[in-house]
Amino acid sequence: MKNRLLIKLCCIIGAGTVLLFWMIDILSNQAEQSMSFIDEQYKQELQDYAKQAEDIYSKHGKDALDIWLEELQEKEQTWAAVAASNVVTVSNSDLREKYVEGIKLGRSLDWMIHLYFDYNPIMDIPFTDKNTHFLIQLPQRMRPGKYYTHAGLAIKFALPLILLSLLSLVLYQHLMSPLRRLENATKQFSEGNFDVRINASLDSRDDELTALADTFDHMADRTSKLIASQRQMLSDLSHELRTPLTRMDMAVDFLEHQLDPKKAADRLRYEAANMRELVEDALTLAYLDTERPKLNNETFDLAELINVICEDSRFEYSNHTLIANLPEQAVIKNSSQRALGQAIENVIRNALHHTPLTKQVTVFLSKTDTLYSLIIEDEGQGVPEELLEEIFKPFFRVDKARTLSDAQRELKVGQKRNGFGLGLALAQRQIEAVKGNIKASNHYSHEGKILGLKISIELPIVSEYA
Ligand SMILES: Nc1ncnc2c1ncn2[C@@H]1O[C@H](COP(=O)(O)OP(=O)(O)O)[C@@H](O)[C@H]1O
Ligand SMILES: [Mg+2]
Repeated sequence: MKNRLLIKLCCIIGAGTVLLFWMIDILSNQAEQSMSFIDEQYKQELQDYAKQAEDIYSKHGKDALDIWLEELQEKEQTWAAVAASNVVTVSNSDLREKYVEGIKLGRSLDWMIHLYFDYNPIMDIPFTDKNTHFLIQLPQRMRPGKYYTHAGLAIKFALPLILLSLLSLVLYQHLMSPLRRLENATKQFSEGNFDVRINASLDSRDDELTALADTFDHMADRTSKLIASQRQMLSDLSHELRTPLTRMDMAVDFLEHQLDPKKAADRLRYEAANMRELVEDALTLAYLDTERPKLNNETFDLAELINVICEDSRFEYSNHTLIANLPEQAVIKNSSQRALGQAIENVIRNALHHTPLTKQVTVFLSKTDTLYSLIIEDEGQGVPEELLEEIFKPFFRVDKARTLSDAQRELKVGQKRNGFGLGLALAQRQIEAVKGNIKASNHYSHEGKILGLKISIELPIVSEYA
């Protein structure tokens, strides 16, 4: 899915933020709740003061109570008093009862102390008669919530810090684990391990980073194949060059010893021409492989192009029969005349080359809605089924025996040589460069005997390029 990573990040960060606020809220409430009540021990002390006040008042009167209160205020560094709650009813007779029952001049000992107020509240402890109240401003030493500020700091600063750090760690891990694999693979690849792949598509994960890993795998695939094919090509090329070079050495020897200098010079010329062809073909192949050019800028008549190639081939293979079944016109767009011309020429020459004199080669061009289909069918020996794909590989020749005997073989100058096995490899790449495809198959008689090779080429009438 597009933007999957973005959605994931939004979800993780969103959920993390909600969790953070929720935790701050819950913990703040809980801290306040648990810290806002007077300790049992202090409650008891305050109740004892009230009891003492009541005793002194009832036994020794107001003056003794004054003295005692004075001392208490001094001792606790606070304010204290004893007050009566006299409510005078003007109307409604049970008001007094109700009011006196619930009257509070200050706060009850069980009530919560609001820690966000700086001053200490007045506590109210009624005497047993319920009409007189011992009032004392809560002494500072008894004020609850000593650690309230610390708890507030922890909840508002430390908690977000820890939670956000954890969240960042999760995000970091989530992003870094595929990136680390990518880094590792890139490093290995740069050190020459071309087999390394990330295979991220095998994981359950599927986001932009997986796509990046897939792109790496794709690049690694293409590059490693290219390097392997270039290495193979280099080794094949040097192998192929060895034979003509040996022959040239021999010709030079002949020249030095004045042995048949005309034949030696012809040999040199012939081998040099072969080598030039070989090197040119190999370079074109390497170019098509590495550059993957898009040959798409020409519009021309395919029927005419094939017709010209057939004419040339008839001239060259004048003893063969070549039948061309072509439409009047076959305009092809976004293509390359040169690439197609070389490819088709190679295939037609192969067909003529492998067909005995008495037999024939047929070229047939037809058209569908989107494609031109070109079939080149010969009546030669065909190609063993298992090698039908191999013949498109560079330097591949079915007739291996010929390769083996190459060094010993005494090729006559002027004799048509078989080629280096680059023709079809080139043809395939040229046709792919104009977005077509080429396939080889054999055609059989009723008895199942190979009648010859059939090469089918499909070409888009208008090549579409991405
Ligand atoms: N029409 C054909 N009939 C039989 N074999 C063929 C035909 N065309 C190609 N081949 C086989 O495929 C091989 C590769 O062909 P190609 O790439 O054109 O190389 P080359 O013609 O230089 O040998 C040939 O060596 C030959 O063995
Ligand atoms: Mg050929």
